[in-house]
Amino acid sequence: MMRPILPRCASKATASQASRLLLGLRQNARRSYSIKPEAASTSQLLDIDPSKLIVEKTTKPGKLHKPEELVFGRAFTDHMLTVEWNKDNGWLAPHIKPYQNLSLDPATCVFHYAFECFEGMKAYKDKAGKIRLFRPDKNMARFNKSAARIALPTFAPTALIDLIAEYVKLESRFIPDQRGYSLYLRPTMIGTQRTLGVGPPGSALLYIIASPVGPYYPTGFKAVSLEATDYAVRAWPGGVGDKKLGANYAPCIVPQREAMSRGFQQNLWLFGEEEYVTEVGTMNFFVAMKNKQTGQKELVTAPLDGTILEGVTRDSVLSLARERLVPEGWKIEERKFTMQEVNEAANEGRLIEAFGAGTAAIVSPVRAISWKGKLVNCGLKDHEESGEITLKMKGWMEARQYGDDEHEWSYVC
Ligand SMILES: Cc1ncc(COP(=O)(O)O)c(C=O)c1O
Repeated sequence: MMRPILPRCASKATASQASRLLLGLRQNARRSYSIKPEAASTSQLLDIDPSKLIVEKTTKPGKLHKPEELVFGRAFTDHMLTVEWNKDNGWLAPHIKPYQNLSLDPATCVFHYAFECFEGMKAYKDKAGKIRLFRPDKNMARFNKSAARIALPTFAPTALIDLIAEYVKLESRFIPDQRGYSLYLRPTMIGTQRTLGVGPPGSALLYIIASPVGPYYPTGFKAVSLEATDYAVRAWPGGVGDKKLGANYAPCIVPQREAMSRGFQQNLWLFGEEEYVTEVGTMNFFVAMKNKQTGQKELVTAPLDGTILEGVTRDSVLSLARERLVPEGWKIEERKFTMQEVNEAANEGRLIEAFGAGTAAIVSPVRAISWKGKLVNCGLKDHEESGEITLKMKGWMEARQYGDDEHEWSYVC
């Protein structure tokens, strides 16, 4: 049996230090590439307490925009929700207050070391005028994982969902009731300690702002074309691509601009020499193709191996597909697949369709992928903007989001 080599300092270590070192070495030997939330969470103090909520309403209510004039993320509601945290007390009383600027010292750690994570989720108004959140437990779980990874505090998910429900009810007039419209919610957490020292923030601010939004494709579905990107990498094993950190997004803008300059709307992020297909822009990626050997129809997406964001839409699409496509003879797979495999399927007429999946667009059909100087056609005819599965998914998802298909995913506020 191989004996672990002890670090040199071990000769001076006490017996208990040495056994701890050995334990650490053994854990490293079977390490998996992801830090568990418990590893970073420090908050054993006060949790978020919705019963302490203080509401200060605006005295200057803003004008409502005409739904058809809404541009994603430009208009905001009258109020914001804030909860401060510090390492001595834990979470302080939550506030709903008029939407306003933050005032932060230039030395605040968020500006220097990117202590920032966020979520993206939506509130919908149903036919009866009730406000519904879509799977908020999933967003809260992911928010906690992101926060923990960058040494920001975690919180009780149900407490923040209760507060979000209060907040969206107060902003109800901003939620258009037409199908396709919703209130986009942006939960955000930042480290607020005033220090240039590199270390865990001793204070943090969790805030939520809200923006009324319209359908992603106001004139109906439009299929997008992608550039397979191999010269820049969005995420890597052991990195933080599976967390929703602001620091993951800015570096993707230049490659996106490059792709757009060549006529492609988004990047299809490839990884490694094998050119594994990972995600598209800021969406998870699905491809429907027939198996080369068996001819079996398969809906495939990359597995959650630490380089893929755990999309709420991804999870919902997989679940709906398992419920409704499997009985129709489909196989649903979370597995690694390469750009070569997609190209081969296209060449052999086995590529049925491809789409991105995310909260903003729900599903986004893909027409073609530029790869190694050629255009891989993703199965749409020239006059088509979406494949059948993509369209079905959109309908199934919306039915649950707007409460037409009453389901536990829909949380009535
Ligand atoms: C990198 C990335 N992948 C996937 C998604 C889709 O996630 P969700 O379905 O939770 O919106 C997003 C959107 O937030 C994203 O930023």
